[in-house]
Amino acid sequence: MTEVSNETRFLHAVQMGLGAWQWGDRVVWGYGQTHTDEDIRKAFDVSLSMGVRFVDTAEIYGSGYSERLLGQFLKDTEQPILIATKYFPWPWRFSKGFIPRALKGSLERLGVESVDLYQIHWSTPLMSPETMMEGMAECVKQGLTRTVGVSNFGQKTMIRAYTTLARYGIPLASNQVHYSLLNREVEKNGTLARCKELGIRLIAYSPLEQGLLTGKYSSENPPPGVRRSQYTELLKKLPPVLKLMQEIGLSHGDKTVSQVALNWLICKDALPIPGAKNATQAEQNAGGAGWQMTEDEVAKLDEATDHIREYATQ
Ligand SMILES: NC(=O)c1ccc[n+]([C@@H]2O[C@H](COP(=O)([O-])OP(=O)(O)OC[C@H]3O[C@@H](n4cnc5c(N)ncnc54)[C@H](OP(=O)(O)O)[C@@H]3O)[C@@H](O)[C@H]2O)c1
Repeated sequence: MTEVSNETRFLHAVQMGLGAWQWGDRVVWGYGQTHTDEDIRKAFDVSLSMGVRFVDTAEIYGSGYSERLLGQFLKDTEQPILIATKYFPWPWRFSKGFIPRALKGSLERLGVESVDLYQIHWSTPLMSPETMMEGMAECVKQGLTRTVGVSNFGQKTMIRAYTTLARYGIPLASNQVHYSLLNREVEKNGTLARCKELGIRLIAYSPLEQGLLTGKYSSENPPPGVRRSQYTELLKKLPPVLKLMQEIGLSHGDKTVSQVALNWLICKDALPIPGAKNATQAEQNAGGAGWQMTEDEVAKLDEATDHIREYATQ
């Protein structure tokens, strides 16, 4: 087990974050129809008031609008907020020089001089992890980001990124991946274990499986838009899992299904970053932290979801 480095220790102290993909995204999240800027501001404010201090955004969310909104909110608060954003190697930005340039664009939209975590959004065969990390090292050198992370990196590319950064004396701070009770791929393929071993913080995106783990959707009442077809099969298998989650929630003083889903991730040593469209959702999600289910309950949830989908073996 590698010691967590001093530079990235702050990330391991964060229990709960807030995802900002919903901020300005119309295609998947219906921004402008289901939620407005005012709703988003309230979601941000309530998160802060409940101790959530880590916000995850990206240059592509709402084509930069998510970063701009966060920048506005930051101006109106004295509270220290940890900011994470991401580089997407598109369109055709496959050489290392694009990375610090893109980060400067993000910083301008955010209205800050540096971020706490800069992540590569996706790996691509058109840009090696070595080239990506050389660009990221340049960002650290120029003082544009405090730490470096990756996202959607499998174990092999993650290790290449880790090794390249090590040559510059920079630790790989995090790997942001899809992880929820309904998608346990990172447990099955060894990525979670490898992260723990190397002191890399595993950040769990879609921790509520895009709303399925809130208990409000079912086969009879599926989620709208693109989520509807994506989740047809999983929705059929959901009722017994939700029932168990409700029972566990009740035994901890009326915790909601969403809070149980998020707490399970905390118990797995992951950092969940649920997206919220309004204050009610944000408030509930913040309550996923600050308590802990028992080992026995974690084991029961593991058992209930073990075969909920098929996982590729490595
Ligand atoms: N690195 C990547 O490639 C990547 C990919 C995906 C996401 N992310 C990051 O991870 C964050 C979270 O993932 P996600 O947005 O995909 O999914 P999620 O957090 O699992 O689900 C968010 C959605 O669930 C519903 N919801 C949330 N809290 C709720 C509550 N308490 N009660 C009822 N409904 C609730 C809302 O949608 P409805 O109300 O419409 O149901 C909300 O938009 C994103 O914002 C983003 O920052 C990163």
